[in-house]
Amino acid sequence: MIIARTKVELKDTLKNLSNRPGKLALIPTMGNLHDGHLSLIKLAKLKSSKTITTIFINPLQFGNNEDFDKYPKTHELDIEKLEKEQCDVLFMPVNKDEVFPPPGKIKNIDSGMLGRDLCGKIRPGHFDGVLTVVNRMFELINPDIAIFGAKDYQQQILIKKMAKSLYPNLELLTAPIIRSQSGLALSSRNNYLSEQELKLASSLYKSLQQSVISYNNKINTEEIIKDAQKFLKSKNLIFDYFELRDSQLNTVKDSNFTGKKVFLASATINKTRLIDNIEF
Ligand code: PAJ
Repeated sequence: MIIARTKVELKDTLKNLSNRPGKLALIPTMGNLHDGHLSLIKLAKLKSSKTITTIFINPLQFGNNEDFDKYPKTHELDIEKLEKEQCDVLFMPVNKDEVFPPPGKIKNIDSGMLGRDLCGKIRPGHFDGVLTVVNRMFELINPDIAIFGAKDYQQQILIKKMAKSLYPNLELLTAPIIRSQSGLALSSRNNYLSEQELKLASSLYKSLQQSVISYNNKINTEEIIKDAQKFLKSKNLIFDYFELRDSQLNTVKDSNFTGKKVFLASATINKTRLIDNIEF
């Protein structure tokens, strides 16, 4: 695997790679790679002949009171895992200047109304930051395919919306959520939790599973959400939101039982915010 740490190294690497035939797939990450991330690389290997992963903890998507400084960094291990998956290129910029142009010249992307809904309500500016960095990675790398996880459901919808207008030829793929045995969706932030908290955290997925069952039994959505809230509280999870939406994240009328939907939830345990969802 070739590791590029600067814009110039990236440019040279991509130039060499362009001599090889086939599609280039991009997997953007913030590192601390787990099996969820690696599943995206496996999918990339199936769908393309060249793969590039990025590891960049993007300051623009963290709020002032968030975990930017303590976000887990495991670069050596990440490199080993990527080598094992036979990823072709890793772009791991040494600093933000190797990603963004000088302030004032950055192309800021506005995530719109949807970016201020759900997780965006709790994390103002977060999705503008995500879209700004993902757009920048698309500009720098110009991939044929880019892969994101369904774990961050709202994120992948927003990226798809952005790409549809800015990169109409780019193919965006969404990979399924990878979970631990307890059902907890894998996340780098799970590292902040103790054994006991990890057990409690898996209640989030259980509440989503129960909600889907109830929905299919035609139980009223309000009641489903109230029950989920009660259950999460009993497990010491502080409820942030629990919502039913259609697969594009539009609100769903209670009487509308057809079409693809998604239950999305966020809850906090010991200052660590968890998100999860089930599409059905
Ligand atoms: P990060 O949290 O590192 O996630 C990188 C990618 O891995 C995202 O597309 C995310 O949805 C996916 N992912 C994480 N956990 C997963 C799981 N359990 N199963 C399947 N996929 C999973 O998301 C980001 O970084 C950043 O916002 C980024 C897109 C890189 C922009 O900075």
